[in-house]
Amino acid sequence: MRHCMSPLDFSIEELDQMMDLAARIEKNPEGYAHVCDRKKIATLFYEPSTRTRLSFETAMLNLGGQVIGFSSAQSSSASKGESVADTIRVISCFADIAAIRHPKEGAPYVASLHSSIPVINAGDGGHQHPTQTLTDMTTIRQIKGRLTDLTIGLCGDLKFGRTVHSLISSLVRYPGIRFILISPEELRIPDYVREDILNKNHVPYEEVIRLEDAMPQLDVLYMTRVQRERFFNEEDYVRMKDFYILDSEKMKLARPDCTVLHPLPRVNEISVDVDNDPRACYFRQVQYGVYIRMALIMTLLEVNE
Ligand code: NCD
Repeated sequence: MRHCMSPLDFSIEELDQMMDLAARIEKNPEGYAHVCDRKKIATLFYEPSTRTRLSFETAMLNLGGQVIGFSSAQSSSASKGESVADTIRVISCFADIAAIRHPKEGAPYVASLHSSIPVINAGDGGHQHPTQTLTDMTTIRQIKGRLTDLTIGLCGDLKFGRTVHSLISSLVRYPGIRFILISPEELRIPDYVREDILNKNHVPYEEVIRLEDAMPQLDVLYMTRVQRERFFNEEDYVRMKDFYILDSEKMKLARPDCTVLHPLPRVNEISVDVDNDPRACYFRQVQYGVYIRMALIMTLLEVNE
């Protein structure tokens, strides 16, 4: 039995197979409408979410399966003091697969050690968010036609943004990838990502503060929200929150084929006047998130087409 804790749990070949499956699902959704009949997914969300939880639930419903779960720690037995280990043992009796989001880094991993069903990490603290990475990679592959030879700008809260940490750790495995890390000094990428992932894999990167300087070079611009819930004090958040605002004026600096992504939710970092720019792909990205989660569920449940 396999779990999905990090994008590195899958080889490049396995990721390719999963993304190919997502593309087949996109072309022929009816063909997959019953492959998970009578299977259940449990979505165990100890932290707020709209996209990720509903995307998992939609994915399972699209496959003919069913959904159980909770959407906040308050509405689960965690509020009575139950451990994640006990909760997953219980859920293993109810469901065939589980997706867990938790504010503590490593909590989904602890769950996987006690689980008799596949566990998917749906985001653990500031650590990893592998299914957002699968979504981001699928989107880039569908729009650009490749995951190699790309200059990717990651902009915003690179310190606390788990989507950024996951995306970097996965993309360093592809040749010709170069990163431009755009953040204020206070929100730079953590040392472990710089040392253990970028430097260790000899991946070229630059760290810059001004978005304008990076814009003209980028094939992909990945904007992120400042992660308010992970700040120690509100004052620092308020100082940082509007550091970057991508608007139609700044988009003039971007290449005609630049792809703008954002894991969402957006706060102020992308002005709504960018939404109609054909290079703005963050809502398409949400749609790809459903297809790739369908492919992931099928893969972990070993369901045949
Ligand atoms: C991201 C997350 O939860 O880390 N959202 C998501 O899953 N789509 C990004 C964020 O919350 O900023």
